Amino acid sequence: MSASEKYIPVEARFASVDESNAETFVIGRDQCVKSFWDTLKSGSIRVLAERRMGKTWVLHLALARKPEWSLPLFFNAEKIDSAPQFVWELNKELHKKKLITGTWFNTVDKWFDQFRRTIQMIQGQNLGKFTIPKIDPWESLLHHTCNEFVKHAREKNPVLIIDELPYLLDKLIKSKYQSDAIQLIDNLRDIRHANPNIRMVFCGSLGLHVVLSQLKEYGYTGTPFNDMPPFDVPPLEKDQGRYLAGCLLLGEKLPLTDIDSVAIAVSEAGSYVPFYIQHIVKWMRSNSIPDKPWLPQDALSIPDIWFKSNDDPAEISYYDSRLDSYYPVDLVDKARSALNVISREKEGMTLDDIVNLARHQPKTLNCDMEQCSRVLDILHKDHYITMQNDRWRFKLDIVRKWWWNKRGKYGV
Ligand SMILES: Nc1ncnc2c1ncn2[C@@H]1O[C@H](COP(=O)(O)OP(=O)(O)O)[C@@H](O)[C@H]1O
Ligand SMILES: [Mg+2]
Repeated sequence: MSASEKYIPVEARFASVDESNAETFVIGRDQCVKSFWDTLKSGSIRVLAERRMGKTWVLHLALARKPEWSLPLFFNAEKIDSAPQFVWELNKELHKKKLITGTWFNTVDKWFDQFRRTIQMIQGQNLGKFTIPKIDPWESLLHHTCNEFVKHAREKNPVLIIDELPYLLDKLIKSKYQSDAIQLIDNLRDIRHANPNIRMVFCGSLGLHVVLSQLKEYGYTGTPFNDMPPFDVPPLEKDQGRYLAGCLLLGEKLPLTDIDSVAIAVSEAGSYVPFYIQHIVKWMRSNSIPDKPWLPQDALSIPDIWFKSNDDPAEISYYDSRLDSYYPVDLVDKARSALNVISREKEGMTLDDIVNLARHQPKTLNCDMEQCSRVLDILHKDHYITMQNDRWRFKLDIVRKWWWNKRGKYGV
């Protein structure tokens, strides 16, 4: 079979995908989407995986393959700045997709208009002169909105898919609206409990456990997600990774003698993550030498070339900088030390070895077994590491390579 029969040419660019074109653009993920709907049938879920793993693309493919029993709405909360705006934008999206009545939408429209005018009135004015008009709180509007969605779905299950919810919650907390963040998650939970037919999907790279530990600092002790089991989006299966790489190599018309073996090498070098596979092929496009065919070993060594220089096109350094943004200060050094140590060995290490070696790192000379276990547990929840046969190792080898080259080998 020739390459053009086996692979479809795809350019290495970052396309915008939605429900209408997901079948064309999203490669693989059949099993993932099937188990997404199977799991959702029996209850709400949290879709978890690190940034750029392909979660949002899985959701779009899932929407394109929605089963008969479901009536889903995809809602991206990334650009939302406040809880009232969340309710307003959610209604706009439901209205656009004709999932609520025009009458209800007009009610919300009026509410938001009044809300906006009240805010303008309050801003920059001496409050003493005004009687603030009484408007319904956004929480009750959110309940009504979901009830309208449930009513509209009739015998089907309405499915509210909120992408980037943890990011919105983090934004609310950082701008001192932590009580709105708490109200939002508690109200969404109350809505699930009051409407057993509704399903919710919360998706995002920043773990909801990070948000909960931030809220703990404000005295919040709720467990608002314990009815929503985690749903993992893993890297592509090996064969899907190879297929994606083959399609991209063909689309970019790169000089190759054997597309299959180079495709296998590219997907392995990218740890089977579509985003990294794309970046590797993009880099090959910019670094091709005419008439010099790419060999598998060339492709395999691309991440090493990046990290031994200052190249980081796929922004893997994010794994490092996010520690400063989201980890409590006392954990940052411990987490870095543990990752420094683990990055030495592709096959990982036992807890004993990690503790012993971490004691040789300048910032964690006194770390003990218990502290180390706690840190490893958090790094595990955040998808940095996994445990297999009593050994902790990096989940993605491409991230391990970054870590070793930039930090591990210097012990900083
Ligand atoms: N199944 C896939 N097939 C092809 N490319 C993909 C696939 N999944 C993800 N990608 C690529 O990776 C990028 C990041 O995926 P995305 O779903 O936005 O990640 P996440 O939501 O986990 O941060 C996409 O823009 C796309 O280029
Ligand atoms: Mg996403």
